Amino acid sequence: MNSNSISFILDNEVFTIDWSKSLFPPSTTVLQFLRSIPKHTGTKEGCAEGDCGACTVVLAELAPTNDKLIYKAVDACLLFLPALHGKQLITIENLANKTPLSTELHPVQQAIVDNHASQCGYCTPGIAMSIFGLYKSEKKPERKDIIDSLAGNLCRCTGYGSIIDAAKVACKTIEQDQFSSNESKIIDALKTINESKDAIELTGKNQIYLIPFSLKQALNFRKIYPDAIIVNGSTDIAVRQNKTSEFHQQILDISFVNELKQIASQKNNFHIGAGCSLEDFKQFVHTQFFEFSPIVDHFASLQIRHVATIGGNICNASPIGDLIPMLFALNAQVKIVSSDNERIIYLEDFITGYRSINLNNNELTFEIIIPEKDNNSFYFAEKISTRRDLDISTLSIATKLKLSPQGIIEEIKLVYGGLAAKVKRAGSCEEFLIGKHFTSQNLIEASKLISNDFTPISDARSTSEYRLEVAGNLLLKCFYSIRVRMDKKIVL
Ligand SMILES: Cc1cc2nc3c(=O)[nH]c(=O)nc-3n(C[C@H](O)[C@H](O)[C@H](O)COP(=O)(O)OP(=O)(O)OC[C@H]3O[C@@H](n4cnc5c(N)ncnc54)[C@H](O)[C@@H]3O)c2cc1C
Ligand code: FES
Ligand code: FES
Repeated sequence: MNSNSISFILDNEVFTIDWSKSLFPPSTTVLQFLRSIPKHTGTKEGCAEGDCGACTVVLAELAPTNDKLIYKAVDACLLFLPALHGKQLITIENLANKTPLSTELHPVQQAIVDNHASQCGYCTPGIAMSIFGLYKSEKKPERKDIIDSLAGNLCRCTGYGSIIDAAKVACKTIEQDQFSSNESKIIDALKTINESKDAIELTGKNQIYLIPFSLKQALNFRKIYPDAIIVNGSTDIAVRQNKTSEFHQQILDISFVNELKQIASQKNNFHIGAGCSLEDFKQFVHTQFFEFSPIVDHFASLQIRHVATIGGNICNASPIGDLIPMLFALNAQVKIVSSDNERIIYLEDFITGYRSINLNNNELTFEIIIPEKDNNSFYFAEKISTRRDLDISTLSIATKLKLSPQGIIEEIKLVYGGLAAKVKRAGSCEEFLIGKHFTSQNLIEASKLISNDFTPISDARSTSEYRLEVAGNLLLKCFYSIRVRMDKKIVL
């Protein structure tokens, strides 16, 4: 393969983009690309920042076993074109089964029509693609799965009742569709594209876009191009490109490196690859640390979670990054690698300040190491945001608490997001509580100390006073939630 090109499947044909001839830079988004080619303008732009889902398309990729396809709804506005390499891009134009003589709507489209689930129609292609993604996941979805699949799609005029009804009807009996009939042909074509594991260097329009397929290739690129910005799911970088016209001359896309996507358990620790998607991490949290489900269940939208990564979340080092408080509470460490070294540091030391991390320009974040659950400890987390779904935190809390048999606090981690320039522990509160009984009175006293630990800012989301007040209330909610779990009578 020409190393200046990528190939993917569109309209059931292999589509190759060769950057020696291309008129646009590699970091053009899939949405911009679709809207620039004929007969693909069904995919709409609403916000260009992942908030509306009007641009939803579905990617089909080879399962690790190479014998079936996995379908994922994603936001085309947040995906750089090279991320399509070796995948099938399915757009709204592909759903209906068209022959020269007839057009048969896909069951998802037919259900939208039958349930009157569209009015102005602007959001409808995105909604149809999200339901199609659910349809192809073949999991006989419950109402909560339908709502989760649609949380990233904004409809301003139809009302979600009929949209949810349409999804229910469409997914009730999953039939063979033209995608199932065509699947073996697509699998063969994707296998051929994916055969070569030679790194790709796309050069065009004043930009170099690097695609390694192994950790070794990635670290080699990191050494040669220390100024290249790392991209994984691109859900943060693409927003910055779309909204601030940020342009990176060198991009290192590590999303094809399988070694970064593993989840393993070894010697009392879980090892979560930095490239693990947030949807996979969500399943991990549900099974291993269910107390943190409120965080991962309300993280962005399914379209974003399909591509966004745990590594991207911690490397962003945002004070409102949702995974950071729970990872602090779990005493997580970060393994960092370069071509000639590796080191492991605590996440609390990795995040050095507002959006700043302890990472050299020849290094990559490789994995996050989480100690196995301490069954004698209690965990709690809560996210406060203006909207329940698809919203970033105003503030959040994650805690770990260990009590003696007499109910005395032996160990406590109280971690807050959104109260300082970086995620931080409430040191004074922790110090006050150590050695004290786990009672509501002590927690109330501790909550009065939060203002010693934090001086939050007022911004568009809320005032400083609101943040402090809610931070104290969250401490009490933590108390009541844990007391309920301890199955004891609540002490007031
Ligand atoms: C609509 C929308 C909703 C969102 N909702 C939430 C939310 O609810 N909660 C939340 O916390 N965040 C949210 N985000 C922010 C973002 O999606 C997440 O932080 C996500 O985890 C970023 O991951 P990514 O792989 O897409 O990162 P990318 O955009 O690929 O990268 C982000 C940063 O991390 C660096 N990086 C990535 N991987 C590595 C690595 N392995 N080594 C070194 N550096 C690396 C990149 O250089 C970049 O600086 C939202 C974003 C959008 C657009
Ligand atoms: S255009 Fe709104 S999510 Fe992509
Ligand atoms: S049908 Fe008009 S926005 Fe959804």
